[in-house]
Amino acid sequence: MIRFRMLLSCTAAIGCLLGPAVAEEADPAAIVAGMFAAGGNHTGVRASGAKGVCLKGEFTPAPGAAALSKAPQFQKAAPVTARFSMGGSNPKVSDKVKPVTRGFAMRMNDPAGDMVFVVISAPVFSTRTPEQLLAALQARAPGPDGKPDAEKVKAFVAANPETTRQAAWLNARPVPASFAGVDYWGVHAYTLTNAKGETKTAKLKFVSADKAGLSDDELKAKPDSFYADELKERLGRGPARFDLVAILAEPGDLTNDSTVQWPEEQRKTETLGTLAVTAIEPDATCDARTFDPVVELPEGIAGPADDPMFAVRSPAYAVSLSRRTN
Ligand code: HEM
Repeated sequence: MIRFRMLLSCTAAIGCLLGPAVAEEADPAAIVAGMFAAGGNHTGVRASGAKGVCLKGEFTPAPGAAALSKAPQFQKAAPVTARFSMGGSNPKVSDKVKPVTRGFAMRMNDPAGDMVFVVISAPVFSTRTPEQLLAALQARAPGPDGKPDAEKVKAFVAANPETTRQAAWLNARPVPASFAGVDYWGVHAYTLTNAKGETKTAKLKFVSADKAGLSDDELKAKPDSFYADELKERLGRGPARFDLVAILAEPGDLTNDSTVQWPEEQRKTETLGTLAVTAIEPDATCDARTFDPVVELPEGIAGPADDPMFAVRSPAYAVSLSRRTN
């Protein structure tokens, strides 16, 4: 397995000083290459979320949000650029596939600092560390016949059982009837800091106001691509709304493992605001840059310092952006 010092750590003086024992991670470029290979090595598309729809909308904070975070977006309404997508790097993937996450990327603008969330339709990610993600991609790499080696996949899954949780979760639920008809999770643990300097740890969830799944018969009747048309029609009738809910941590909840779901039903929650998706935007509005969920956070909200899957997203998204725009 290729190992080298991660870009992020080495740009921060502390990461370089700490040395390789702390700062080493799997190569983000190797991970991104693996992601492209898994989807058929298409050019000019994202390494994940290759098929998607660009959008605009508005985020309106809830009255209680400012007590939890001093981020500007939790004090006053913010315009939003967003994108719904299908997981993976294949731009021709069918909207009917079940064990593939639907994605939701968004940038809430504010002159004091944009706030970006890039979230998925499952409460967990598929791997715990970048090394495990690289190994998973290598185990599933398509062979000369275009298919992964079944024995290699079997051996990887046996040695890494937690990597099956996300697919099991998706397989146990119906295919969403709409990009707007499913809940999306941030999967990582965020720290919210208010104006008094008080902090709370929370996972974030975008709760659809109009959740709907397709029965097997309904699914059979659909063409491979129906989400884009459904969304156009839906937004013609009015905005698609999501409540942004903070699931508050209790002692013992892991912040360093995004393959583990916190027991949401037993946790206190706080609604932070409502995101209204109002219209479809030209692809170019979303394609010129990436939504970086690590770097693009204002004061008042921070990602987990101890979750290696969080930090690696920034350099990986940059590699993908560079490949698809050059
Ligand atoms: C851990 C939770 C993660 C979630 C919720 C997530 C979700 C998403 C979503 C929704 C997109 C589509 C963004 C868009 O529409 O522009 C995306 C893109 C992408 N993701 Fe992730 N992802 C996660 C982790 C990772 C990790 C660990 C890597 C690699 C190390 C990765 C690599 C990428 C790349 C390269 C892109 C394409 C970015 C671009 O070209 O703009 N993601 N991700």
